[in-house]
Amino acid sequence: MFMRVLNKWIQKEPSKNAITILKDRYFLKDGEGNYLESTWDEVSKRIARHVAAAEVNYTSDIEEIKNAEEHFYQLIKSRIFLPNSPTIFNAGKTMDRQLFKKDIEETTLEDYKTIFDSRTKHNMLSACFVIPMDDSMSAIFDAVKNAALIMKYGGGVGYDFSVLRPKGSSIAGTGGKSSGPISFMHVFNTAASTIEQGGARRAAQMAVLRYDHPDVFDFINSKKDNKGNNVLNYFNISVNIDNPKEFKKMLEENGDLTLEHPASSIRKTIKANDLMNKMVENAWKTGDPGMLFLGRHNQYYAMSEHTPVTATNPCGEEPLPPFGSCNLGSIDVAKLVEDMDLGNPNSDDISEFQEIIYWAVRFLDDVIESNIYPLKEIEEMSKKQRFIGLGIMGLADALYKKELPYNSEQARKFMAKLTAELAYFSHVASTELAKERGNFPDFQRSKYPHGFIPFPMLDDEIDEDIKAWNEKIRQHFQGEATKYKRNVQTNTIAPTGSISNLADTSSGIEPNFLLSYVRYMTNKEGDRVPLSYINPILMEKIGTNMTEELKAEIIEKGSIQNIDSIPNEIKKIFVTSMDIPPKDHLLAQHVIQSYLDASCSKTINMPKSSTIEDVKAIYLQALELNLKGLTIYRDGSLETQVLTSASKE
Ligand code: CDP
Repeated sequence: MFMRVLNKWIQKEPSKNAITILKDRYFLKDGEGNYLESTWDEVSKRIARHVAAAEVNYTSDIEEIKNAEEHFYQLIKSRIFLPNSPTIFNAGKTMDRQLFKKDIEETTLEDYKTIFDSRTKHNMLSACFVIPMDDSMSAIFDAVKNAALIMKYGGGVGYDFSVLRPKGSSIAGTGGKSSGPISFMHVFNTAASTIEQGGARRAAQMAVLRYDHPDVFDFINSKKDNKGNNVLNYFNISVNIDNPKEFKKMLEENGDLTLEHPASSIRKTIKANDLMNKMVENAWKTGDPGMLFLGRHNQYYAMSEHTPVTATNPCGEEPLPPFGSCNLGSIDVAKLVEDMDLGNPNSDDISEFQEIIYWAVRFLDDVIESNIYPLKEIEEMSKKQRFIGLGIMGLADALYKKELPYNSEQARKFMAKLTAELAYFSHVASTELAKERGNFPDFQRSKYPHGFIPFPMLDDEIDEDIKAWNEKIRQHFQGEATKYKRNVQTNTIAPTGSISNLADTSSGIEPNFLLSYVRYMTNKEGDRVPLSYINPILMEKIGTNMTEELKAEIIEKGSIQNIDSIPNEIKKIFVTSMDIPPKDHLLAQHVIQSYLDASCSKTINMPKSSTIEDVKAIYLQALELNLKGLTIYRDGSLETQVLTSASKE
């Protein structure tokens, strides 16, 4: 059963572009820089074996461990499921290569034990971390050190800077004045700038500040210096508006907002609208700051009464408590829609999708055991609550294949049903694992025993299928899940910035940014290597009508909307980020987020011509919907874009 849909994709080798990326970033090398790997098959086997070795914690039945390895291997080799980059970089790293070269038939229980026991600090497998800050010099510099260790091995870190007292506050003992959170962000930024993550990519951090912190305006302006130069380049910044509906009301009533901090006598009263306008203006200029609604995150987090989440990872999809970590993995739905009726609660192949999800959840749960954590406190928190983030990638390509325009009601129904199905089966899998392996240790203190549902669901049940999923979900959380849950959080949708390229699919839940592009990758030698691409589904759809001239025009424009020779039905389906009105981006985020216990990475793309008022309208609408945050990007508002259509080079 498991083999049917995977088999087809196991045969397909990664594209030339994917191999280039693998070679530059993922194939293991020895100390002298010589390659130890040269194929995707070797990488898949290394990851599968390293992670399956964690099963020695639960069984001494070698067949059971091999069975897990075989399932993990098939998922990864077929690229139907890929773990986050740190797992691909770091699984099996610095271990005896012979252990990974053996055929599975020859592998012994001792081999798995050796792998498990020989893990070192090089085997850090997670992408997402949040570390705490405290309002003292030694705590801040401890946090810098901790962050450096995480980033060194490929993890991204988020921090809540709100705990730091505002600039100009008195410091007891020295008689001096505090320099404030923004000055400390520069220290973290400098640390990040000296670190290349996992030896392979740029360090990434998220800084969060509460909307009522006295330095909030400095924070909003923090990514430009006095001369207008870009600074804090290793940070995304987000303003935390704990209660978005209350804030919206304040805006409507043109109310006052008091900015204050418990460790300071500084108090300022401002108009809430002035804060909103400043956020909107800067977001219009550069995309920063985003908004984060941590109150809503906590509402749907089963441990919020004990360990509330205080920040997210750099791309915003993973809210975590202090010292929390999460490992992510993504299922490529574009590959699956070719053979499966995803999202349909009555489909014949539902059990196959369920099986894929079960093994993906089991893989991520095993990663918690096989991971080497950068800090003792992170290990403790990660094992007490067992966060995992199973998500999807390839949504846009799946919609092309299903011929549903991303910006349509039909597509939104599909998105909702697909995410509901993912959420349902992954929570069922987490419950199954709990029966075999035990609940996450904090389970009894969590909200789950009380029938808690960790996401809002779509309340306007626009469709019979959505009703059916909602019903299954309610039954699960009011039934078995009150007794068994292995993971406090289960679903996260990552940007999949790199792994979607390895999978030759569209990234996360985003529309394709361009249908054709030249992507520049900077290799180890510092040279810019062009990787050119044209969407293969479009190529197939246009078929023999794809002349060399037409191809050149698509490459030139990136979008097909202004190409006369392409029929309207095709134009409607093959939309890009910039072809989609901002409100449809927002609605897509809304339906998807309705079924996620963690969050998703989503950018609301806006055309270059958008006004500050247009941005404000989106910000206001975001306060109303069931969202956990907001990131916008106005075309052309950042100097360096990674992707560029030929016409923009
Ligand atoms: O595709 P890949 O697994 O490489 O990563 P992603 O899905 O684009 O990003 C997932 C998470 O990895 C981000 O939210 C960050 O926490 C982390 N990340 C990072 O630390 N540094 C980067 N350069 C990219 C991602």
